[in-house]
Amino acid sequence: MNRTKDLQKAEAIMRKNDRGRYTVPTHGLYPFQWNWDSCLSSLGFSHFDIDRAFVELETLFASQWNDGMVPHIIFHEPDDGYFPNTDVWQTDQPVPTSGITQPPVAGFALCELYKRCTNKALFADRARALLVSVHKWHQWFANYRADASGLVAIVHPWESGRDNSVDWDRAFERVPTEGVKPFVRRDTSHANPDHRPTDEQYKRYIWLVEKFRSLGWDNREIAIQSPFQIVDPGFNAILIRSCFAAAELAGELGESEIQSASMTMASAMLSSMELLWSEEFGQYLCFDRVSNEPVNSPSIGGLLAVFAPVPQARIHRVAQTIETIGQTTRYLVASHPSTEAEFDELRYWRGPVWLIVNYMIAQGLRAGGEDKVIHRIVTDSIDLIETSGFAEYYGPITGTPCGGDTFTWTAAMVIEFFNQFDSDLSQAC
Ligand code: GLC
Repeated sequence: MNRTKDLQKAEAIMRKNDRGRYTVPTHGLYPFQWNWDSCLSSLGFSHFDIDRAFVELETLFASQWNDGMVPHIIFHEPDDGYFPNTDVWQTDQPVPTSGITQPPVAGFALCELYKRCTNKALFADRARALLVSVHKWHQWFANYRADASGLVAIVHPWESGRDNSVDWDRAFERVPTEGVKPFVRRDTSHANPDHRPTDEQYKRYIWLVEKFRSLGWDNREIAIQSPFQIVDPGFNAILIRSCFAAAELAGELGESEIQSASMTMASAMLSSMELLWSEEFGQYLCFDRVSNEPVNSPSIGGLLAVFAPVPQARIHRVAQTIETIGQTTRYLVASHPSTEAEFDELRYWRGPVWLIVNYMIAQGLRAGGEDKVIHRIVTDSIDLIETSGFAEYYGPITGTPCGGDTFTWTAAMVIEFFNQFDSDLSQAC
C-alpha cells in the first residue's frame, strides 16, 4: 500500500475534474455537476482545500428549486456528449437542471466540513447559510415524499443513485415504453455498453422523465402519479444521518428551530426503519409503495442502511451478511450478491463495487464496532484503486475497472479512507 502516491494521484484527479466552482464526476461520460457526487467529493477537498470544499456545496445549492428540491444534475455549461440533456428535461430553471433529486448526503457532508475547519469563525456564516438550504431540502422530502411513517419514496431509479439495481426490476415492469420519443444514448459511446444499463431500461427511465415533464414538474403531482414509488433503505438512511448531522450543526450554530425540527424528523424516520428490516435476508429491504409490498431483493441499499444510527443488533447482523457476501467475492462490497441469479459482475449496480458505498457502510459499521469487516472493506477499496486505477466502479470478483476512469468521487473516497480510516488500514486482522 502506497499512501503518499495514492493520495497524490487522488488529489490530481480532483484537480483535473475541477471546473472552478464545481467538479464533474469524470470528463466525457458525465460533463456536468451531479448532486451526491459533489457532496461526497467535497469531503475529499476538505483535506487539502477547505474553502474549495465549501464552494462545491454552495454551487450545488445555488440551483435549489423554490420548493426546496435540490436537483440531481446541474447543467452549468452546454455539452452535447450527454443524454438526456436540457432539451429533454426542460425544467425552466435559471441554470438548467434535471427535475428529480438524489440521495441527500449534503447534510452529513456539511457537518463534516464544519468539524474540519481549523478556523470556525471564518466559515460560520457560510455554514449557517448552507444549513438553512439543507434544512429546506429535508423539509421538501417531508412535505412531498413522506407517508405517515416519515420514510420517503423515490419516484425514479436515478434518484436512488443506484440506477439499474435489481431492486427496481419488478416495479419497472409497470413503467411503459410506448410513446417514448426516439433517442440516441451517449453513455455507451463513452463506456463499455456491457457495463451500463440496457436499452430497455433506458426507455423506461426516459418514459418517466417525459411523464414528469408533462406534469409541468409539479412535485405534488409527480409524487402521486409516478408508477414507480419505492422506499429505499439506503436513501432513507442517508436522509436520517443528514438530519441528525443538521441537528448537530444547528446546535453548534445556535439555530434552535432547525435543531429541534431536524431531531424530530430524524428520530421518527429512524424508528420507522424497523418496518424495512428482514430477518430472513439479514438486511433491510426496499418497499414498493404502489404494490404495497416489500421488494425481496438483497441489494446493497439494504446494507447501506447502517449509515443511519440503527440498533446495534441490526448493525451486527448486516456485518455478518457482508462477511457472507465476501466469501464469494474477492472485493467487498458487491452491489448485489454473487450468489443471486441476477448478479452481473460488471454491469453498474447489479454486482460491481462502488467506493462511495463502501465508505458510507464503513462509517455506519463504526457505530457497531465492527472492526474486522471495516478493515476488509477499507483495504479492499485501496487494493482496488492500486490494481485497477480510480475507476467509476469495479468487478467484485476480478477487480475489473468499469465505467468511466479518473473518477472524482472515487478519488475523494481514497482521501477519506486514508484520513478517516487510517487505523483500520494499518490494523492487522
Ligand atoms: C451514475 C450513478 C449515479 C451518479 C452518476 C454520476 O448515474 O448511478 O449514482 O451520481 O452516475 O457519477
